[in-house]
Amino acid sequence: MRSPPLSCHTGREIMVIPQHVAIILDGNGRWAKSKGMPRSYGHMKGAQNLEVICEDAWKIGIKYLTVYLFSMENWKRSPEEVDSLMKLFRRYTKTCIKTARDNDMKVRVLGDPSALEPDLQKSLVDLVESSKDNNGLNFQIAINYGSRDEIVRAIRRLAADCVDGKLAVSDITEECFSGYLDTAGVPDPDLLIRTSGELRLSNYLMWQLAYTEFYFTDVPWPDFTKEELLKAIEKYNMRDRRYGGA
Ligand code: IPE
Ligand code: IPE
Ligand code: MG
Repeated sequence: MRSPPLSCHTGREIMVIPQHVAIILDGNGRWAKSKGMPRSYGHMKGAQNLEVICEDAWKIGIKYLTVYLFSMENWKRSPEEVDSLMKLFRRYTKTCIKTARDNDMKVRVLGDPSALEPDLQKSLVDLVESSKDNNGLNFQIAINYGSRDEIVRAIRRLAADCVDGKLAVSDITEECFSGYLDTAGVPDPDLLIRTSGELRLSNYLMWQLAYTEFYFTDVPWPDFTKEELLKAIEKYNMRDRRYGGA
């Protein structure tokens, strides 16, 4: 696949394309309900849309895409919904192995996979392993992910390295700490998008989003199209990223 452009002519104007876009893909359940359908139908349509948006993101010129598929808090949902989500993730992971191969996508998994069923854990490992040398879109999927949990797991590993004498306390810097997170090696997101109207982070990437631009839309995830993504990027282009400067 060809290298993506750094800017994109959208028919409106030339825009700067954010290198890394993170998405909280929310609203599958409400979308399904509004159509008189079960929540699982919304999740299925949401997963289909994710495949389309992945391709669109790369065509637009986005290099890193990080999506929230399942939070640690999502285990609180009914057993039926959790079960249907896990079934969907099984299918999605298998499809993604093929998509990653066809589209040269490199996939990373964020979160703690240990609570997932062994076969799903194995598929996720296969997905990461089989795509690790690809050079297209860097695609991060957050599954059984919680930002506080990620930070605590990172601190545990870091502390163990200190105890083992591999790391001096005085060498702990922000960069060093970032290297212990699940997102090690991935640049911080430039743009965060949350669909479906909620104005919160829901325990997503709290360290990494320190200077990210936020974009909230009422559009539910299954209806979030390439056009909506371009709208978000258009808004991003209007932001003045000062990073504390004047
Ligand atoms: C997002 O859609 C997908 C997951 C959290 C798994 P929701 O299932 O949260 O949909 P709403 O927010 O209830 O509409
Ligand atoms: C956040 O959405 C998690 C995912 C999108 C996977 P939720 O729908 O679970 O978030 P809350 O419960 O509204 O905060
Ligand atoms: Mg939700």
